[in-house]
Amino acid sequence: MPAFRATAPGKIILFGEHAVVYGQPALAVPVPAVQAQAIAQAALGLSAGEILLDAPAVGLKSALWRSLPPEDPLARAVALTLEALHAPQPPAVRLKITSTIPVAAGLGSGAAVTVALVRALSGFLGAPLPDAAVNAIAYEVEKIHHGTPSGIDNTVVTYARPVYFVRGRPLQPFRVGAPLTFVIADSGIPAPTAQAVADVRRAAEADPEGYAALFATVGEIANHARDALARGDARRVGTLMSENHALLQKMEVSCRTLDTLVQAAHEAGAWGAKLSGGGRGGNMLALAANAEAAEAIAVALQRAGAVRTIITTLQPSP
Ligand code: PMV
Repeated sequence: MPAFRATAPGKIILFGEHAVVYGQPALAVPVPAVQAQAIAQAALGLSAGEILLDAPAVGLKSALWRSLPPEDPLARAVALTLEALHAPQPPAVRLKITSTIPVAAGLGSGAAVTVALVRALSGFLGAPLPDAAVNAIAYEVEKIHHGTPSGIDNTVVTYARPVYFVRGRPLQPFRVGAPLTFVIADSGIPAPTAQAVADVRRAAEADPEGYAALFATVGEIANHARDALARGDARRVGTLMSENHALLQKMEVSCRTLDTLVQAAHEAGAWGAKLSGGGRGGNMLALAANAEAAEAIAVALQRAGAVRTIITTLQPSP
């Protein structure tokens, strides 16, 4: 059996994080500059049903999947794939997982690793799973990472296209009317999304009316942003990003480092900036007027303490 390789991109949330958990719309896009990759190939000398996992980034070297705890994300992804394929005893497989997506930074690394793994394994076994099945498995595995995920990460990563996402509803792509260049900057602070989501839940329970209003306003911003993106009105998109950041500050998911980076992006001429993802660390996002401006913003962000910057251009819809 020939080896089978699959990749999946990173992702970044443009608008609506946290509020999306409470049913508001959010917008997210793939980040193809960073990728997870899985290669499945025959594992010689092993019995049927055995799957060896090599994932150097998480310290796995030739680990037999059944020897891993069931809540290990890679083991869970393998188990769910074999279940979906009705293949409890497949030919022995070696799975090698690599990724250039920073971990715990809000770039969807967990979802991308799962999607690449599921596609490589099912493809190698001759029965590539359709996107809907891949997405459903990635959502289940996201629960291990995030507790109560909205499903936005796995959806964007699986379909690798801009997504207007409302929890529990089918995928809706959104239109992009003009190219938009973003700078993504990593604060260097690991950001456990589950913790931020749990803290927002506690705060929302303590102040239901206040938080319902915050979430609803974020939802309105996401809807305005969808219209502005479709028109290619980058300045308006930028303004809405900054408004969204102010609301995330009110939800107490920003932090001094992220606020410093947002400020630095504004000072360097960004049209808008906000934290992206769970917050408390991880990444922020700035919108640049063009590629040259993006370079200048990236330099300013590095000077302000960003440990890594990625420039990514969202291409107009065909
Ligand atoms: O930290 P990230 O990029 O994986 O995103 C989390 C987004 C939240 O809205 C905070 C949680 C969720 O499940 O949607």
